Amino acid sequence: MNNFASSIKNKSKFLILGCGFTGSYFAKTLKKLGCTVLTSTRSENKNPNSFVFNSDEGIVPDEKFFDGVTHILSCIPPNKDGNDPVLESLKNKLKSLSLEWVGYLSTTGVYGDTKGGWVSEINEPNPLQLRSLKRLNCEKAWIESGLPVQIFRLPGIYGPGRSTFEAIRNQKIRVISKKNQVFSRIHVADITNSIIYLLLNKDSLKFHQIINIADDEPCSQEEVIQYCYDLLGLKMPKPVLFEDAKKELSPIAQSFWMENRRVSNKLLCETLGYRLIYKNYKLGLKNCFLNS
Ligand SMILES: NC(=O)c1ccc[n+]([C@@H]2O[C@H](COP(=O)([O-])OP(=O)(O)OC[C@H]3O[C@@H](n4cnc5c(N)ncnc54)[C@H](OP(=O)(O)O)[C@@H]3O)[C@@H](O)[C@H]2O)c1
Repeated sequence: MNNFASSIKNKSKFLILGCGFTGSYFAKTLKKLGCTVLTSTRSENKNPNSFVFNSDEGIVPDEKFFDGVTHILSCIPPNKDGNDPVLESLKNKLKSLSLEWVGYLSTTGVYGDTKGGWVSEINEPNPLQLRSLKRLNCEKAWIESGLPVQIFRLPGIYGPGRSTFEAIRNQKIRVISKKNQVFSRIHVADITNSIIYLLLNKDSLKFHQIINIADDEPCSQEEVIQYCYDLLGLKMPKPVLFEDAKKELSPIAQSFWMENRRVSNKLLCETLGYRLIYKNYKLGLKNCFLNS
């Protein structure tokens, strides 16, 4: 990491578009390494390294924020029409810059349902949900933009401040059981560190335009929730069968249970050599437990 900082901190300038959970973590990590980082939000703020970008309201950043930018990470999901907010508002601007790299955070939802089977980057996307189809269209728009883009497909993101612990504390937890159902997930630190690892080793690693970032052990929600209750020293509520719980779930919550897949990280971790910090939910959740 220090190597990375010293090799690029003086000549690189990062723009993080959409500084929510992952964008903030990424920005914070880069800043710690000494890099210049500017971040966007949709609402006014007093941070001098932050600017307002809200594609829905047609608010685009002032020209000055783009001066000398070399790297961009977009963490912004498709808008309600299914278009990419960044490309819709800023494509020409981005194309006029001398960008070395553009990262785009996408989702593994584009793979659809594999009935519990493993899925990797060589599998043809097969979106089941409309939102995933929109996402796939945004990926295509990024690839066709001609920008030096790299797409990261992510499963459920968690980390300190956003994990099952918050759901338990806010009493928003429902323990649902569905036979053979698994979910893949990733700790926010591994999203950040793997992207930085790829940037650091850009010259020595073969470039892959699409990369999954997931941990080693997809597993059931019930297992994850049980582990959190164990760490808290509390008794987990009795699981409810999915068929019984279904009618009370929101359409979006229901849709997550309609897809069952194991996301492979072999490209990232075997071919490209990234070593996960949190290989499984137990290690990752212990970190959340100790930091929340
Ligand atoms: N959460 C997950 O489990 C998960 C899983 C797979 C993939 N993803 C995807 O990965 C990316 C990062 O996820 P995340 O959970 O870190 O996201 P997040 O916390 O929801 O942050 C999204 C950011 O996008 C900004 N944004 C949204 N619409 C915008 C628009 N029209 N114009 C300008 N900015 C806009 C938001 O601005 P404000 O800060 O002003 O709200 C926010 O900073 C997203 O694309 C997400 O869909 C998420």
